[in-house]
Amino acid sequence: MPQLVLDRVTRHFKNKIAVDAVSLRLQPGIHGFLGANGAGKTTLLRMLCGVLKPTSGEIRCNGTDIRVLDGEYRYLLGYLPQDFGYYPDFSAKRYLEYLAACKAVPDALAKERVQEMLHLVGLDGEQRQKIKSFSGGMIRRLGIAQALLNDPEILILDEPTSGLDPKERIRFRNIISALSKEKIVILSTHIVSDVEFIADQILLMKQGRIIEKGSSRDVTDSAAGKVWEYLARPDEAERLNGEFSVSNLRNEGDRVYLRIVSDRCPCQGAALAQPGLEDVYLYYFEELAEETL
Ligand SMILES: Nc1ncnc2c1ncn2[C@@H]1O[C@H](COP(=O)(O)OP(=O)(O)O)[C@@H](O)[C@H]1O
Ligand SMILES: [Mg+2]
Repeated sequence: MPQLVLDRVTRHFKNKIAVDAVSLRLQPGIHGFLGANGAGKTTLLRMLCGVLKPTSGEIRCNGTDIRVLDGEYRYLLGYLPQDFGYYPDFSAKRYLEYLAACKAVPDALAKERVQEMLHLVGLDGEQRQKIKSFSGGMIRRLGIAQALLNDPEILILDEPTSGLDPKERIRFRNIISALSKEKIVILSTHIVSDVEFIADQILLMKQGRIIEKGSSRDVTDSAAGKVWEYLARPDEAERLNGEFSVSNLRNEGDRVYLRIVSDRCPCQGAALAQPGLEDVYLYYFEELAEETL
């Protein structure tokens, strides 16, 4: 089984540090990199694929630098880039057969493998249609199918759910969680529910660093004592909403239920609540969300 080690992996773009000395050990399982836009997820994933060189630091697969392994490493890899390119005039089937050839999947195996993948992502019925007639969700599913063609030991998916509707998101999650537990699956997203229940490890990424990592439980525990619930009068609710980070707000009769993420008790009568991953996300990224507004 593969093992990836990132050893102080850093990437600069001119004087901007996109990825800042990230050290990690990735074992088989699903690793969800969660962070706001600009956190450095794509840059890190591109380095993990070997398409971008670190400015410094090293990525090792089973003990050897991936740049030394080169083709041998790419052979283990499946990659769905954030901007996934395809040929609009190809049918789904022809496109996958073409890519199977590019990835040196043996001819005898290719046809069968293409059908398996089309089935896995639920596109068998549409395999003869041109890709340009596909919805965003179908294109993403085709993207996952192409990344899995060579049965990779390491699967890297960059924002695989972007542009998907809720039903397609669920479908995608089910495809990912059904994959073999022997693969290292690395996926990036800025949407908490993409990874909350399927990732073995969640890694919160902010300004080029991993600021928190662990199981969904471990990560949510890091916000223990910082999530509050309060039933407010409408005027109070408005004031609190202006003053604090509010992760949920709903009307309950003549009161307003507020869920507030704050280091200190937001108001008298507020009670501590069990944090969820959404609350944690708000806790770490609120400040950044305001900066980027
Ligand atoms: N090719 C590039 N040239 C210059 N700056 C880049 C390049 N790629 C990424 N960046 C910068 O690096 C930072 C991280 O970007 P990125 O890795 O795309 O983050 P994410 O995928 O989390 O949104 C951003 O500030 C972005 O502008
Ligand atoms: Mg990105």
